[in-house]
Amino acid sequence: MANKKIIIAIDGYSSTGKSTVARQLAKALGYIYVDTGAMYRAVTLFAMRKCFVDATHFNKEALERFLPFIHIHFEVNTKTGIAEVYLNNENVEKEIRKLEVSKLVSPVAAVSVVRRKLVEQQQLMGKDKGIVMDGRDIGTVVFPEAELKLFMTATAKDRAERRYNELIERGDKVTYEDVLKNVVNRDHIDSTRKDSPLRKADDAIMIDNSNLTLEEQFEQIMKITKDIISKM
Ligand code: DC
Repeated sequence: MANKKIIIAIDGYSSTGKSTVARQLAKALGYIYVDTGAMYRAVTLFAMRKCFVDATHFNKEALERFLPFIHIHFEVNTKTGIAEVYLNNENVEKEIRKLEVSKLVSPVAAVSVVRRKLVEQQQLMGKDKGIVMDGRDIGTVVFPEAELKLFMTATAKDRAERRYNELIERGDKVTYEDVLKNVVNRDHIDSTRKDSPLRKADDAIMIDNSNLTLEEQFEQIMKITKDIISKM
């Protein structure tokens, strides 16, 4: 099994636990894990610092001009074993998870030149396979030829509850209503944008985890993965 490397593409709505399952799969298979949402969040943080107009608007032309100077890479934190995202060599892993970034990320991710730059980088990362990548367009645009595609969903209420608990645990001051509004709003922008909208690839397997424990979900997905690898 070890030398039959595949690409696993995980797409789906916000806060469906894509990164948790992607991380579990990568660890079990010895694959690289790439959180593409972190890349869009890092570009958003840059826009907030340099191309900002107000809390919900950024200057698109300025962002396009700055784009060649935005460098994003991942480095594994040796203590946690988790790959963390860097924006122009600054570790921004904590900052990009804040609600302020979540509020602006969907409009930034709708900018085509931003998408083109990040998609190119993502395709390079997966050129040798043995990768689990999660996002919104992985199975449809980044790796349409991926051997395994999953599309994750859960009710908006369940997703907002998870994200709210995560943010509170981290010490962020947020309200549940604000988080729910953000989850619903992001899904709307992500699914209706012109360039690479969030949609289930025809050959993706739908996973609704509203009523699944993390263990049940991992078992179910691991079984599907092993089946695919064994048939190669
Ligand atoms: O996975 P996440 O919630 O951290 O992603 C943040 C935002 O980035 C999401 O609302 C839409 C955008 N995104 C995208 O457009 N394409 C991807 N492949 C990943 C994320």
